[in-house]
Amino acid sequence: MSKTKSKTTVTRRKSGRQPSDRELVVVLDFGAQYGQLIARRVRECRVYCEILPFDTPVKKLLALRPKGIIFSGGPASVYEKNAPVCDPAIFEAGIPILGICYGMQLMGKMLGGKVVSAAKREFGKTELSVLSDADLFAGLNPQLICWMSHGDRVTKAPPGFVTLARTRTSPIAAMGDPKRKLFGVQFHPEVIHTPWGIETFRNFLYQQCGCQGLWTMASVAEQAAAAIRKEVGKKRVICALSGGVDSCATAAIVHRAIGDKLTCIFVDHGFLRKNEAKQVVRTFKDNFRANLVFRDASKRFLKRLEGVTDPEEKRIRIGNEFVSVFEEEAKKIGRVSYLAQGTLYPDVIESGTRTAAGIKSHHNVAGLPERMKLKLIEPLRSLFKDEVRALAEEVGLPAAIAWRQPFPGPGLAIRILGEITKERLDMLREADAVALDEIRKAGLYRNLFQSFAVLAPSLRSVGVMGDQRTYAYTVILRAVTGDDAMTADWARLPSEVLERISNRIINEVRGINRVVYDISSKPPATIEWE
Ligand code: XMP
Repeated sequence: MSKTKSKTTVTRRKSGRQPSDRELVVVLDFGAQYGQLIARRVRECRVYCEILPFDTPVKKLLALRPKGIIFSGGPASVYEKNAPVCDPAIFEAGIPILGICYGMQLMGKMLGGKVVSAAKREFGKTELSVLSDADLFAGLNPQLICWMSHGDRVTKAPPGFVTLARTRTSPIAAMGDPKRKLFGVQFHPEVIHTPWGIETFRNFLYQQCGCQGLWTMASVAEQAAAAIRKEVGKKRVICALSGGVDSCATAAIVHRAIGDKLTCIFVDHGFLRKNEAKQVVRTFKDNFRANLVFRDASKRFLKRLEGVTDPEEKRIRIGNEFVSVFEEEAKKIGRVSYLAQGTLYPDVIESGTRTAAGIKSHHNVAGLPERMKLKLIEPLRSLFKDEVRALAEEVGLPAAIAWRQPFPGPGLAIRILGEITKERLDMLREADAVALDEIRKAGLYRNLFQSFAVLAPSLRSVGVMGDQRTYAYTVILRAVTGDDAMTADWARLPSEVLERISNRIINEVRGINRVVYDISSKPPATIEWE
């Protein structure tokens, strides 16, 4: 799911929200770099977790009945003017709290301890000595390696607190008041460099907050379907199917909820990968008995893109055309009240916390809900991508969909640099199919965030084939690793795999005589070339 896609302005309904509030933990965000990671770790412990702003009023917090609260880290210093602070009444609410880094310092200061700016920053892997293995560190070794990243530190714990662990530079690297169930850690248990960090969360959640780990994908699917059923009643829902895991999982949940009151619309804009449209339709039919409208609009899209070379112009035209075709098909269905959409949690958090810079205007079904006066149903609204994959498996979608790499809405149209023609599309589709085939055969597909071919029609170069001179096109291979689309590293593909891909593309795809591998990371490059 893209990060820079335009956000719809229609009122969002709550039905997608996973109502496992029976066991909810709240992360209060103090501007952390790793806020999302904290939420993910908590969910890995099977406890549902939401991120809220640091200044959420205590009344609102209590209304959610959280089992525990986690204060995230943050870049500020507690003594700075305008440093973020929470509502002090939180400490009186009788809810267990775990403060991480800035969260611990804030707790230290607000409850009467002392925090100082350290002369020496503690950064990176650090040895930690555990002084008490009763609470947060239960079941862990007395000597551990943790990951630190802080300037300030607590030098005097607040009344009622004891020191639970120390490092060479931080005499109070973890503290706790077991009676009030208030805890603080200076290190970052959420990052992978603190490999046992998950145990700290588990101890906090299970021992201190009394959680049982009720949050499973089966419960998510069940509760989301029940909420949709209640909301929709006898009305009709449409869903734009793309073949990606988000739209398929959305359709599966909505179908489970309301059966044939759901109609999925799959518009083939002609920029899909080789055989993709057929495969999506087949998989869909094999897996649900839901209504599916398939519309091949490829000729129409190609015509709309004639002579267009600018990437943003391509996106705009494809987006507009998509909305028109989709609307035409939706009208044939009759009166529809809802649009089901696969919005994920990172998009929700981002839209609430910061404005994304307009680097690429990603196309989805933006504009549709307003134009057609549809209410939104977003059953994945509180999930991270990896959770959606688990959910997809839970609801019985095949691995080919559950583990599908992200594919951009405008598809191959933004992987042909410059003008799109049928000939170029066919060439790219073949080259891309070879690349993916070899990547799958090498067992690398799931380890890569994305992997694909790009066609550079303006890059023709001289080659020799047989005894003939060639003057043909270049294919660029792009494969990246990463957890989300915000940052990515180029994948260190084994040279034998690169060799096989290159040989096969040059031999099997007419018009290509050169294959190059993109070794740029994001940032500063982006994942797609356009
Ligand atoms: P970039 O190229 O910005 O891509 O690094 C980040 C992620 O977004 C996908 N992407 C798009 N997705 N419509 C989409 O739905 C688009 O126009 C679009 N452009 C890029 C890209 O594949 C990557 O996953």
